[in-house]
Amino acid sequence: MLKLTDFDYHGKTVLFRADLNSPMENGRITSDARFRAILPTLEYLLEHGAKVVVATHQGRPYSGDFSTTEEHARVLGELIGREVEYVEDIFGKYARERIRAMEPGEVLMLENLRFASEEVKYVPLEKSERSFLVRKLAEVIDLVVNDAFATAHRSAASLVGFARVKPLIPGFLMGREIGALKKAYESTEKPRVYVLGGAKVDDSLRVAENVLKSGRADVILTGGLVGHVFTLAKGYDLGDANIEFLSKRGLIELVDHAEKILDEFYPYVRTPVDFAVELDGERVEVDLLSDEKALFDRYPILDIGSRTVEKYAEILGNASIIVANGPMGVFEREEFALGTIGVFRAIGESRAFSIVGGGHSIAGIYLYGIEGISHISTGGGAMLEFFAGKELPLLRAFEVSAEHFGGKA
Ligand code: 3PG
Repeated sequence: MLKLTDFDYHGKTVLFRADLNSPMENGRITSDARFRAILPTLEYLLEHGAKVVVATHQGRPYSGDFSTTEEHARVLGELIGREVEYVEDIFGKYARERIRAMEPGEVLMLENLRFASEEVKYVPLEKSERSFLVRKLAEVIDLVVNDAFATAHRSAASLVGFARVKPLIPGFLMGREIGALKKAYESTEKPRVYVLGGAKVDDSLRVAENVLKSGRADVILTGGLVGHVFTLAKGYDLGDANIEFLSKRGLIELVDHAEKILDEFYPYVRTPVDFAVELDGERVEVDLLSDEKALFDRYPILDIGSRTVEKYAEILGNASIIVANGPMGVFEREEFALGTIGVFRAIGESRAFSIVGGGHSIAGIYLYGIEGISHISTGGGAMLEFFAGKELPLLRAFEVSAEHFGGKA
């Protein structure tokens, strides 16, 4: 891979592809975690005299958090203490004019990349490089720096398309992400504990299967909807309300896959022993083996229970390596954040080399001031794809660019 510190940026125009896709409420960004993560690279580029064109996506077409990047320009500007010009264009004439007019030390924010049709279709690098997005922007930039680890699993034009067109250089965040993930994945120090939570059940099952089959994990702790699916696969009943919820989201079909994993690795996959539901506006914990579990017929499970947290904390306390992705429950609601916070706190207190990721859910780590985690990954889906053993298109693009420009740049 090319190295950020090997290039001269003075007077150069750098397209800085970041992943600033963030949780938003009423048009405001509610967590600036992904902004803070890219600051070392951005500051390095500015200190070295670059003109920096920041590009990110936000949400997906027609989703609730699909928006312009005007707010992103404002948040970034506040963090770096200088103006970030928001340009309501991506690669059209106006954007290219504004880029050409830049001076060293200036920062500009392009419009949400997913407003461009080419960006929302995932095609191989060889095709992406012929996109208008790549060809038009290539006219006005010298180098591409990329810190968008959280989108490394998407073969989108802005991510892979520049590899043979301009030097595609990983930023400092990218280097830290890849280094930490590889360290955990390749470690032989035992016990290696994976904590799989959240709603990306399909991806999490593929991670569980890969790390167990390849002998890279010793224990898997489950929570969130991943925990529900494994609990059902173990033969427990989670009641009508929860089964209906999982059916609606197409997750019941995944129980078969979870059963297949359990057929081979039953003792290594731990599932919650108690859960929390909401009863008359209050958190009520229900043991999976108690008669009160009849409540699951009427009330959806919103978190793992305290007994589960205790059991998981003990395992995490003895771990050497911890990889955790996704929350244990609906952590956005304070009374149901107990499981997620308890587990994340136990990870922070453990002496293990630990990685926690899960896209927007890492906001909880900052919100509750949890410390001691070795690496907080900005990646959700990208992190899961990595641990599922898949080649990430962006990482391949870095290699292609290094082969193409290595020595020539
Ligand atoms: C994420 O938040 O996981 C990344 O920004 C990728 O977003 P996507 O799943 O919409 O591609």
